[in-house]
Amino acid sequence: MLKLQKLTKAFGPNVAVDSADVIVDRPAMIGIIGRSGAGKSTLLRMLNCLTEATSGQILFDGRDITALKGTEKRHWQSECAMIFQQFNLVPRMDVVSNVLHGTLNRRSTLATMFNLFPNEDIHRAIDILDRLGIAEHAAKRAEALSGGQQQRVAIARALMQDPKIILADEPIASLDPMNAQVVMQSLRQIHEEDGRMVIANLHTLDTARRYCDRVIGMRDGRIVFDGIPSQLTTGVARDIYGADASFSEAATSTEIETLDRTAKERAALELA
Ligand SMILES: Nc1ncnc2c1ncn2[C@@H]1O[C@H](COP(=O)(O)OP(=O)(O)OP(=O)(O)O)[C@@H](O)[C@H]1O
Ligand SMILES: [Mg+2]
Repeated sequence: MLKLQKLTKAFGPNVAVDSADVIVDRPAMIGIIGRSGAGKSTLLRMLNCLTEATSGQILFDGRDITALKGTEKRHWQSECAMIFQQFNLVPRMDVVSNVLHGTLNRRSTLATMFNLFPNEDIHRAIDILDRLGIAEHAAKRAEALSGGQQQRVAIARALMQDPKIILADEPIASLDPMNAQVVMQSLRQIHEEDGRMVIANLHTLDTARRYCDRVIGMRDGRIVFDGIPSQLTTGVARDIYGADASFSEAATSTEIETLDRTAKERAALELA
């Protein structure tokens, strides 16, 4: 399905992503973790063709994404919707219009200029908002919503594109823990119910373990871990975050203690 082959991006002498090899053979929910500057955003941006790879390939269902140009490239970009840390909504515009902007790439310039949306699209936008639990805010300005609600509007806008992949770059980095949980649950729900692939850059190991079925760890542009959450041992966390890491960056101390326990010990604790 999705295959990265020796995918590399260099900014001058700085290699941001260094020969990344990844194979995703089913629509998984994948978390990418790593310290600041590890190359997580650059990797996502290459997937969405926002950044051109220096070398290597991205293949999706046999198509070479790295070679796409013009209309084909724009079509691919609508197949993999992107969600950002800062939501990127139009603050003074109402929620439903923000969501409808997810269809802009397939509308005429004239319709766009006059803000004309087909009824069918308006109904679909409301349905998506309803699914994300925020339909009651449809007529409000985006800026009047909480951070967590705004991020759900951004997810709704992404869903309007009916994407095969949702790429989320630190989707919960600006949110408090409660809202972060709701947004991660929404992404998880979309993945499970629609079978869409979700790839999310996440700062903490804790979140990746809780919501993702696969975790990719990056360090200095390289993929140093690729496995299931239960394989994330303390040693692996050190590989990803560095031996000098305080781990506050990676997880809480309780989390690290849990990682240290064997599955058997954990099972015994759960039974106690
Ligand atoms: N447009 C650019 N021009 C030059 N260097 C860049 C550019 N974008 C990223 N880099 C560099 O590439 C490296 C990886 O950056 P990237 O933003 O991918 O890291 P990240 O893992 O997303 O970090 P963070 O957790 O802080 O978001 C860094 O050294 C960064 O300075
Ligand atoms: Mg980043």
